[in-house]
Amino acid sequence: MAKRKNVLGALVTAAVFISLVTGCGGANAPTTATPKAPDAPKPEAAKPADTTAQKPAGKIVVGFSQIGAESGWRGAETQSIQDTAKADSTIELKFSDAQQKQENQIKAIRSFIAQKVDVIAMAPVVETGWEAVLKEAKDAKIPVILVDRGIDKKNEDLYTSFIGSDFILEGQNAAKAMAEHLGDKGNVIELEGTVGASAAIDRKKGFDDEMKKHPNIKIVKSQSGDFTRATGKQVMEAILKSPEGKDIQGVYAHNDDMALGAIQAIEEAGKKPGTDIKIVSVDGIKEAFEAIKAGKLNTVVECNPLLGPQLFQAAKDLKAGKELPKWIKSNEDVFSGQKAIDALPNRKY
Ligand code: AHR
Repeated sequence: MAKRKNVLGALVTAAVFISLVTGCGGANAPTTATPKAPDAPKPEAAKPADTTAQKPAGKIVVGFSQIGAESGWRGAETQSIQDTAKADSTIELKFSDAQQKQENQIKAIRSFIAQKVDVIAMAPVVETGWEAVLKEAKDAKIPVILVDRGIDKKNEDLYTSFIGSDFILEGQNAAKAMAEHLGDKGNVIELEGTVGASAAIDRKKGFDDEMKKHPNIKIVKSQSGDFTRATGKQVMEAILKSPEGKDIQGVYAHNDDMALGAIQAIEEAGKKPGTDIKIVSVDGIKEAFEAIKAGKLNTVVECNPLLGPQLFQAAKDLKAGKELPKWIKSNEDVFSGQKAIDALPNRKY
């Protein structure tokens, strides 16, 4: 019996080892999958990484580890990166969808290292836990570019550049808008993004800090809706049924998808989103602009997902031996009322 257990144990260990070394059979393996609609639960089956593939001559090979497809914003980011790569004959993109799992991102990065890509790009699902794999990339002399989300400050030497938004500023702008909509007093619910994600940590920090200037506004409940519409709706439904939910005047959602879910929950509870309860969110997807036009959402703080052109320019600059700025910051705006309605026809995502 003990002998059989040992044989079994050895087999399991061998299987795990093989999958780590080859990157095979997991969701981490680079694919050329097209982006899915928000909340689409079933990602395309991943293809095994070909670690023996020859590098295409004259091309810059970029391995990109995407978080998943949790929101409309994420779909727009994936599309921007894939479209930009497709239109550029000097770029070869290896795309990997991690289905919201850090372990899949780590496997994908190991697979990119094994394939000797020129540049590794990643949108880290959470801030911490990257030290070991990024050290491996550094040892292999492959530069790493963070796209959209950051990692903890103590590991700043493990990446070359960060391309993305100032999430703290987004949180501050959301708080300013909320204070204005509430006439400086009221109770607010905060729907946070994925626990441990830089976008959630910093949007909360910016909002909470700015709210200290508005002592008559109280954040009565703050809970994660994981950046998805379905969870945003569920969380809002539960809050509306709880004692805190009986007297609320505002909802701050860390992204549009959760705000759109909350809007549904508020309507189903017989209240008017945008009027009875003011809603402020971050991202700026087309559907959020439509909700503003319909009077159901009050302000959207823009966060730019169209990062493909900047990413591949950065990869080319690196290849040409240029030094990149540590932070390539996105320019963003804030939209409410008529300004949002006027901008709607030209929204790109
Ligand atoms: O990291 C950016 C955030 O991630 C976006 O605001 C959100 O929609 C996405 O899922």
